[in-house]
Amino acid sequence: MATTPMMQQYQDAKDACGDALLLFRMGDFYELFFEDAKTAARVLGLTLTSRDKGENPIPMAGFPHHQLDSYLGKLVRAGLRVAVCEQVEDPKKATGLVRREVTRVVTAGTLTDDALLDPRESNYLAAVAPPTSKGNLESNEIGVAWAELSTGRFHAAVFPRAQLGDQLARIRPSECLVSEDAADLAPRGRELQVTRRPAWAFSLDGAKRLLTDHFRTASLEGFGFLDTDAPALRAAGAILDYLRETQKTSLSHFDRLVPYQSGTTLEIDEATRRSLELTRTIREGRREGSLLAVLDRTITPLGSRLLADWLASPLTDLDAIAARQDAVERFLRDDTLRRKLREHLHGVYDLERLLARVTTGRASPRDLSFVGQTLSRLPQLKELLASRPTTLLEELDSRLDPAPDLSSRLAASLSDDCPLSPRDGGFIRTGYSADLDQLRDLAAGGKQWIAAYQATQAQATGISNLKVSYNKVFGYFIEITNAQRDKTPAHYIRKQTIANAERYITEELKEYEEKVLTADERSKSLEYDLFVALREEVADSAHRLQATASALAQLDVLASLAELARQRGYCRPKVVAESVVTIVDGRHPVLDILEPAGAFVPNDTTIGGEGGSILLITGPNMAGKSTYIRQVALLTLLAQIGSFLPAKHAVVGAADRIFARVGASDELSRGQSTFMVEMTETARILNTATPRSLVILDEIGRGTSTYDGVSLAWAIVEHLHDRVGCRTLFATHYHELTDLASTLAGVRNLNVAVREWEDNVVFLHKIVEGSADKSYGIHVARLAGVPREVNERAKEILARLESEHLDPEGRPKIAGGKKSRGKVQLTLFAAYEHPLLDAIREVDVNSLTPLQALQMVQTWQSRLAREQ
Ligand SMILES: Nc1ncnc2c1ncn2[C@@H]1O[C@H](COP(=O)(O)OP(=O)(O)OP(=O)(O)O)[C@@H](O)[C@H]1O
Ligand SMILES: [Mg+2]
Repeated sequence: MATTPMMQQYQDAKDACGDALLLFRMGDFYELFFEDAKTAARVLGLTLTSRDKGENPIPMAGFPHHQLDSYLGKLVRAGLRVAVCEQVEDPKKATGLVRREVTRVVTAGTLTDDALLDPRESNYLAAVAPPTSKGNLESNEIGVAWAELSTGRFHAAVFPRAQLGDQLARIRPSECLVSEDAADLAPRGRELQVTRRPAWAFSLDGAKRLLTDHFRTASLEGFGFLDTDAPALRAAGAILDYLRETQKTSLSHFDRLVPYQSGTTLEIDEATRRSLELTRTIREGRREGSLLAVLDRTITPLGSRLLADWLASPLTDLDAIAARQDAVERFLRDDTLRRKLREHLHGVYDLERLLARVTTGRASPRDLSFVGQTLSRLPQLKELLASRPTTLLEELDSRLDPAPDLSSRLAASLSDDCPLSPRDGGFIRTGYSADLDQLRDLAAGGKQWIAAYQATQAQATGISNLKVSYNKVFGYFIEITNAQRDKTPAHYIRKQTIANAERYITEELKEYEEKVLTADERSKSLEYDLFVALREEVADSAHRLQATASALAQLDVLASLAELARQRGYCRPKVVAESVVTIVDGRHPVLDILEPAGAFVPNDTTIGGEGGSILLITGPNMAGKSTYIRQVALLTLLAQIGSFLPAKHAVVGAADRIFARVGASDELSRGQSTFMVEMTETARILNTATPRSLVILDEIGRGTSTYDGVSLAWAIVEHLHDRVGCRTLFATHYHELTDLASTLAGVRNLNVAVREWEDNVVFLHKIVEGSADKSYGIHVARLAGVPREVNERAKEILARLESEHLDPEGRPKIAGGKKSRGKVQLTLFAAYEHPLLDAIREVDVNSLTPLQALQMVQTWQSRLAREQ
């Protein structure tokens, strides 16, 4: 391998940054070598060239330095880790090889650059600490910590191992650290970068030392962590260790570690989040079309991210929910208040991320001016809130800190249109620093001085055409034509003779020249120092400004919920402790908005109380069963974030958990069979739902044969009814199940009305009492464009099947028989009619001799034997 000093420097940097791709700054370019070059060429579409064209050419690729942001983004999105190696001294001043250092390592979970982040989304780095061994036994408790470098949020908690997937689904980290010796804890997921760390990075002692050292506290109990939280601390330690290693900047904006209490929020497992499409759609995994995207009326990125947080962790505490509702109601009632508040929010920047860049020393002049502009909005905002109408608004108002000193200093120092780079200068206002103003005058006002100097010299010498000029070789000089040469004063120093004139300099002119030439440089360097001082001043206030940022975010979300409620005519739900749901004219929050106005048919819901807690919904394909049951789950969830609801009237019992299991139709291949996934998730619901939970099951049992499916669905409903007693909505095509309503007191049948008209079916989307009797699947198939012959043939087959399987009243034979549970189970199996049974039925026992009977049994046996 080539070992020029520079390539040696490259190799050292490469060795220091592990498996990261190394971007090596060379002049105006970032270059990649060897395998890195090949990878970058592939991912970024760069041209692969080579260095050292001799015997061992080194593959090489590169791009201009100003494209760093966009290329970093692409590399990180492709799941790569990238180290940036900068020139850390001025090449002009370097003696020999320019010093270079890896200044940061960029990974999916540690992005801070605005250009690389979606402002509406949080970007968490998570760590999972393996269970602590207790004697010979491994405990079941794992530690999870998550942090956001761009805002300084830092949380940790201990969870039962089985909850890992659900918790990560809630947090949605973009990168997760796992210990090398606990590879089985590595989460899977398309959008997640898994980073293996050495086992020692997760040690308890190391973590405690690192954390107490960082927070400058003696212990972590002050944050609310106890001995039993060891795994949480180990995970938090691993995060801090990783950030220190990769970031090489101050991490002082991580000013506390917040324990996460799971009991205070509505639990939503991973499958439920997915099927309810809370923040991503199922099919395309995109934000657009999700509940979050459709409801988001926030103005600031701060608000947008907080709304996502609220949807990810709705509340269970009735008082906390009511406090939010009060605030929303206040904003809803007072249109002027809401409008003005939102107007002010338009002038509020992403304070959280700005502050993080300030404390990590990455803020630009523009960032600082944005902090200033945001602060300047606060007095008016506080004035708006001054009437302090609700407890929550009053509290938020008290947390808005306009930091008047800092605010006026920023306003006085920074110009309106600040640049991104602090080195270019020109962003400090005139009048802020006398020294700076002088330097700038000097740098820019040279012409005036020269003109004045020329005039005085012309007068003093009596040479009227004396000229002061400038060129690159001699700098400033005085030019006197040959005709006037005699009048040249003695102190003029001759520099150059040209065709018809002589050129001179003077001491004064030389001195001035020196000042002018360095003025520009000196003014830029002074500006930089002033900027750094300002940045440090903001950093000193970071802590209280973080509180301001969080209050702004909440105000934004509350006002946005009010805006939504006003736009769409939402009502304030009564959120109660009992396990009930009463909704009048409820609408699906997403379809209500996405469908054309008036297209969505509102529906009522009553669960709990007299009517029972389990609703079985049957009805034709395309009728709206799935929509209806999701609607109930979504409205419950929205009520628990403090939102108003798309309904005329609503009473919602706060749920402790919401489970949504959508049938086999939308299987996601995850290394298990479709049906296995469905049953695993169902098992979890049956085992973990409580009487306060809300369960929606859509077509459970569809992934297997009809009889298996019906039997399972039947038993599941029975279990939920007898053992769990939770609110349940069960949408199904198994009309057989509707018989459950007559055997189980808490089960009620609903169906979706349709009207048959000639050979057509009209979907009314209206939920009505009672069970449906047909599925109209063949009709829907025709709507979908299945060829006519197939459709006609299906109708023939259906007719034949129905004649075999329906009793004279048109009800499935399977559900017939007496209404005792044992009998029902038996009749399920009677459906496997064997032809022999008919033979048995036809036998006239009275006319049979014993010998004939024996012979008959023998024939049956041999017939059965043949069939096997
Ligand atoms: N209340 C409603 N008002 C208007 N349109 C509705 C309503 N409910 C559902 N729809 C529309 O009807 C279509 C079918 O709804 P959905 O998927 O809920 O039917 P389904 O009964 O579950 O059908 P399948 O049995 O095929 O699963 C959807 O495209 C939806 O937009
Ligand atoms: Mg459906």
